[in-house]
Amino acid sequence: MPGRAVIKQSRRRFLRHVLASPLAAHSFAFNPDEERRIASPKEAINIFDFIPVARGKMLPAHWAYLETGVDDDLTVKANIEGFRRYQIRPYPFADVSRIDTSLELFGRKLRSPILLAPVGNLRAFHEEADLACARAAAARGHQFIVSVYSSYHPHEIAQAYDGPLWFQLYPTDNWDATVALIRRAEAAGADVLLVTVDTPGGSNRETLRRTGNQRSPECRPCHEPGLHAFLKRHPIYRDIDVAKVTSGVRPYTWDFLDRVRETTRMRFVIKGVMTAEAARECVAHGADGIIVSNHGGRELESLLGAVDALEEVVAAVGGKIPVLMDGGIRRGTDVFKALALGARAVGIGRPYLWGLGAFGQEGVERILELMQAELAGVMKLAGTPTLAAITPQFVRRRT
Ligand SMILES: Cc1cc2nc3c(=O)[nH]c(=O)nc-3n(C[C@H](O)[C@H](O)[C@H](O)COP(=O)(O)O)c2cc1C
Repeated sequence: MPGRAVIKQSRRRFLRHVLASPLAAHSFAFNPDEERRIASPKEAINIFDFIPVARGKMLPAHWAYLETGVDDDLTVKANIEGFRRYQIRPYPFADVSRIDTSLELFGRKLRSPILLAPVGNLRAFHEEADLACARAAAARGHQFIVSVYSSYHPHEIAQAYDGPLWFQLYPTDNWDATVALIRRAEAAGADVLLVTVDTPGGSNRETLRRTGNQRSPECRPCHEPGLHAFLKRHPIYRDIDVAKVTSGVRPYTWDFLDRVRETTRMRFVIKGVMTAEAARECVAHGADGIIVSNHGGRELESLLGAVDALEEVVAAVGGKIPVLMDGGIRRGTDVFKALALGARAVGIGRPYLWGLGAFGQEGVERILELMQAELAGVMKLAGTPTLAAITPQFVRRRT
């Protein structure tokens, strides 16, 4: 029989092992003090190393805003677990002495298929917020997508970036205010407009509600109640008349979306499509692209992982317009699998927020460096020197 001290020691070792695993690193329920804490971005071996540092620096309610799903947070998990159902089939005879991760998308050349998905209220994670992310994306050659709820004006973000931004819109129920938002994005040089259509209002973010208490005195200066106060907190709304806005969302019917598309010369991309039927309608209505996404599992508790929806959307679109995806991408292998299943590019959300919360711009840069290096490594090992070489034959669904 092992002694009490030995049992205690092995239990501690087991706990340390569990805590070090990416799965545990993605749950809310473990003690950050037990984890390995990196002191600088360079020390990170993978993106999960940023989690304890980021969480340690943030208000618990802001951490909950970052991580929350809806209901039981099962769709967040479904996004991640979806990738584990796919296996990679390597080809050993390719010349992989040079790996090229560049691609053409919406008329421009991008250096990486890993994009920074739109995230609102980034100042909750770091004072430099969108500016830090845009600078990091520029430094490492990734596309940055600005949320309409950015913490800096798109104009300021454009100055921190080195190319045209993509801009994500939540239309309000007032047409003039919606057009004003689009014009601000155009003036900032954005050339792609994403309309997010998976957020009709009313998602049940219990993890956030359990932790966040915007009524406490220290929260009040930033969380003044009311829709108009909420909108005005976002710099893009600074000089927009919101008097007639009664809702920050509106039904995403086609008559409305057609009108938005006709109102701008930016490429028109729909974010939040999860089925073949919806994808076909996007093509029929002249969308320039689709993003398969369930909002990182933050809207409907569908249990349908984004990667699980990818194949049917790609098949329905039949190559007519590019299909992108986001949700649950944590590893280079995930990026590879999404591309093999037909995505032209992928978005990451929470991973770059971990980097931002932990170390600001430097943290985001290191997250991008790690994910890009993992992708290049997987491409080499799988025998695909270019993105075009990554085809469905390189993955199989586990039976
Ligand atoms: C804290 C947070 C805020 C977000 N804000 C927005 C937003 O303003 N607009 C939007 O279209 N999507 C938003 N998203 C969804 C992301 O664009 C993206 O779809 C999702 O994060 C991808 O999943 P992942 O976090 O697993 O990578 C947000 C996601 C998070 C985590």
